[in-house]
Amino acid sequence: MTTVQSPAPEGRETWTSNRGFILAAIGSAVGLGNIWRFPGVAYEGGGGAFLVPYLIALVTAGIPILFLDYAVGHRFRAAAPLAFRRMWRRAEALGWFQTAILFVISTYYAVIIAWSLSYFYFSFGTKWGDDSKTFFLSEYLKVGDPGVSGELVSGVAWPLIIVWVLIIVILALGVAKGVEKLNAVGLPLLVLGFTALVIKALTLPGASDGLNALFTPDWGALSDLNVWIAAYSQIFFSMSIAFGIMISYASFQRRKANMTSSGLVVGFANSSFEILAGIGVFSTLGFLAHEQGKSVGELEGITGPTLSFITFPKVISEMPGSAFFGALFFGSLAIAGFTSLISLMLGVSVAFQEKFGLSKETASVSVGVVTAIVSFGLFSTTTGLIALDTVDQFANNIGIVVSAIAMCVIVVWLARTVETLRGHLNAVSTFKVGRWWIPVIGLYAPVFLGIMLVQKVYDLIKNGYEGYPAWYVGVFGWGTVALLVVFAAVFTAIRWNGRDDPGFTPWPPVGADAERVEPAKEGVR
Ligand code: ALA
Repeated sequence: MTTVQSPAPEGRETWTSNRGFILAAIGSAVGLGNIWRFPGVAYEGGGGAFLVPYLIALVTAGIPILFLDYAVGHRFRAAAPLAFRRMWRRAEALGWFQTAILFVISTYYAVIIAWSLSYFYFSFGTKWGDDSKTFFLSEYLKVGDPGVSGELVSGVAWPLIIVWVLIIVILALGVAKGVEKLNAVGLPLLVLGFTALVIKALTLPGASDGLNALFTPDWGALSDLNVWIAAYSQIFFSMSIAFGIMISYASFQRRKANMTSSGLVVGFANSSFEILAGIGVFSTLGFLAHEQGKSVGELEGITGPTLSFITFPKVISEMPGSAFFGALFFGSLAIAGFTSLISLMLGVSVAFQEKFGLSKETASVSVGVVTAIVSFGLFSTTTGLIALDTVDQFANNIGIVVSAIAMCVIVVWLARTVETLRGHLNAVSTFKVGRWWIPVIGLYAPVFLGIMLVQKVYDLIKNGYEGYPAWYVGVFGWGTVALLVVFAAVFTAIRWNGRDDPGFTPWPPVGADAERVEPAKEGVR
């Protein structure tokens, strides 16, 4: 069989191996979303029954959109703005919208990692004492009423400085020497630490009650549209898809690389870790319920920050070998968060490098410092917790869902590049993407996500959020959405100073030639 010539070498940095790319992609996917978010979302969404919308979301949107991200990044070899621009000039704004989401999420994501570092330290000596709630809210975060206090909380600010310095240094080291090495060390450490934690949790008295609470299905929950929205948002956030991360990661993959098979490995690993986290967390909650003579359903605070930073410390205090267990849990949370934050920030940094022709060092420092300042000013203050909760809700349930819909509609209906992208994936990968992919991303995903989005927006307008004052939800919630749009408009309007190279040629040629390109072999450059 004749084959199309290998691509010419290019200046772009690459992952040193396919394994390096897969580890980094799993490191990005497995994050706070798996440990901090999934168990509570699953429990609230009907326990065992939640696995139904979750798996449907994985198959109908998770994997197809992961392939889409990979295809765009790998073919157009740039972070989201330039990759979309190369695909279809008018799609650049979508790239900046995604970059804005990355920026916004990074500002508060770093703060949760800082809390985890503090709690890692507090574990030795269970510093939170008998009342973990008062400790977290009043002594540690010094939480005030919703507003903008501007009053920094030193206990959060110190570890946050460590997080940002490390992020900036690793970004400046680049993809192979920084991000890849971080994941090569961090991911095995995380898997070891978290597996040890789950094994320990499973041996605790009451663990089986916890697992029953998580896995006993409440089928009624499936008729609630909100449960479906939660499942799709969880899949997007957790798999790091539809907001630019996997586009930039794929753009650093070698031209000949088995993209779809890697995608399946990443998707499977992420969901497995998510289920593992559910098992670990709920076994532990079963133990707490057992100690308190309650059922798991009667426990308070089994979601979000409350679960990790109030309920978990409470359990840790009650168990033998508490320092070790606490250190494992908060250490895992910090590592999982860190390997994800680096992927969020790489997306932002590379977008600016490409638009303004900056070196990676200059982009890492400037983008890192600006994001860090916002992160300190808004989320490391006495009003940080409430701001974080509100911004997280709007960035995820509106920002990422809008981005996913826009991406599908642009690729399939406006730019009409879906066949080229499918051809691209099939030309380089061994697992072939069938024609099913086109109606899934062109019809099913946008329609279903569109219905969910309308319902969510209606709900937020009608009921507000968490009973916070309307002005507050307006500024922090809807303000976040407005910021995403303005950010996208402003950066799209600015002229390209960097590498808007008119000479860029996608590789491999697809269409009639596609059949003649040999699939990549593992590790082939
Ligand atoms: N995928 C990352 C997480 O789950 C962002 O936290």
